[in-house]
Amino acid sequence: MMTTMVAGKANNARPFLYGSEEAALAEALRSGHYGHTDVTDQFEADVAAFLGVPETVAVASGTSALLVALLAAGIGPGHEVLVPSFTFCATIQAILAVGARPRFVEVNPRTACVGSGEVLDAVTAETRAVMPVLYGGRAVDLSEAQPVFAAQGITVIEDASHAFGSYAGELLVGAAGALTCFSFGPIKNLTCGQGGMIVPRNALEAAACRRLRGLGIVESAARPAEATGYTVEGFGLRVQMSSLNAAIGSAQLSRFPRAEAKRKSLWRAYATALQGVEGVTVVDVDVEHSVPHLCAVLVRTGRDRVFRSLRARDVGVGTHYPPNHLQPAFAPWHRSLPVTERVGRKIMTLPFHQHLVEDDVEYVASEVVKAVTETAAIG
Ligand SMILES: Cc1ncc(COP(=O)(O)O)c(C=O)c1O
Repeated sequence: MMTTMVAGKANNARPFLYGSEEAALAEALRSGHYGHTDVTDQFEADVAAFLGVPETVAVASGTSALLVALLAAGIGPGHEVLVPSFTFCATIQAILAVGARPRFVEVNPRTACVGSGEVLDAVTAETRAVMPVLYGGRAVDLSEAQPVFAAQGITVIEDASHAFGSYAGELLVGAAGALTCFSFGPIKNLTCGQGGMIVPRNALEAAACRRLRGLGIVESAARPAEATGYTVEGFGLRVQMSSLNAAIGSAQLSRFPRAEAKRKSLWRAYATALQGVEGVTVVDVDVEHSVPHLCAVLVRTGRDRVFRSLRARDVGVGTHYPPNHLQPAFAPWHRSLPVTERVGRKIMTLPFHQHLVEDDVEYVASEVVKAVTETAAIG
């Protein structure tokens, strides 16, 4: 077993490149076209084929995917969107950007995700959308709440930023019928450098997403050179995916089975190493069905002390996420969420990226045990 982590591996998360990205990026650069091009179209087709869906819509980031999906679903001023407080702040900012208001929802502490119970507890007559977050890569099943959603016309928009490649039952996340948003940011299961992808529910919604991501212009930037002018048919943003990012994404996608195998095996190694450790509970990511994006634990006592002690030893732990209902920017939508507040005080994410090997995981786990034991002794 290693006694110290190799320099650079101690990050909480790091991008992983397979090697073919550089050539793909150089080819896209040489083409001289850096907007949405046929390279972006190809990446959309590659992701659609991978997921087994008719079409996907590429955008500049996961945040813009959420924003465009909300707009395409008709969510705006006066509408209430149910969202877990326990998520990255990008989820909340997207809701605010369309003029809607977030209503924060509790999570199940075992999974750090919402379930039907938490959502039904929070739903009001004004709820127009629900944005479940697939924390750590775990699919969220809201089927028990579907009758209420149907009766009230509530749209589910999945924030699947963490969950590319994970399964919801028999189907890949994104292929199960919900309006779904992925992030392909630097440290995600698949990276484009920066990027995001929407899986629309039908062709009409796909057309709306395309219009919204491209300044309301209907024709693709890659349209034939002989086309003259263009038509602006509605509101739109400049959030298309550059060919440069798409080229990286397609190269990554062709190697995705390696990401899947590596991430599952690292997560399992952590779960095995930490099984039965007093005072530490691994947040369950449903590894059988998921491609884990992170490995989180709940530290029963003294999380801050444990965290600082691990950081002092160069172990890159994180606290994903500080609850949003406690953030100053979101104070107007604060409500008391005791479960989330407890999770926020106890959560600690462990170094998790594809540069790690199982010895690194064992090393981190042993350092966690040491830090927890020392903290317990201090009392
Ligand atoms: C849960 C969640 N939602 C949304 C986002 C936003 O994605 P992006 O950084 O690609 O805009 C992230 C990114 O970290 C995320 O973790």
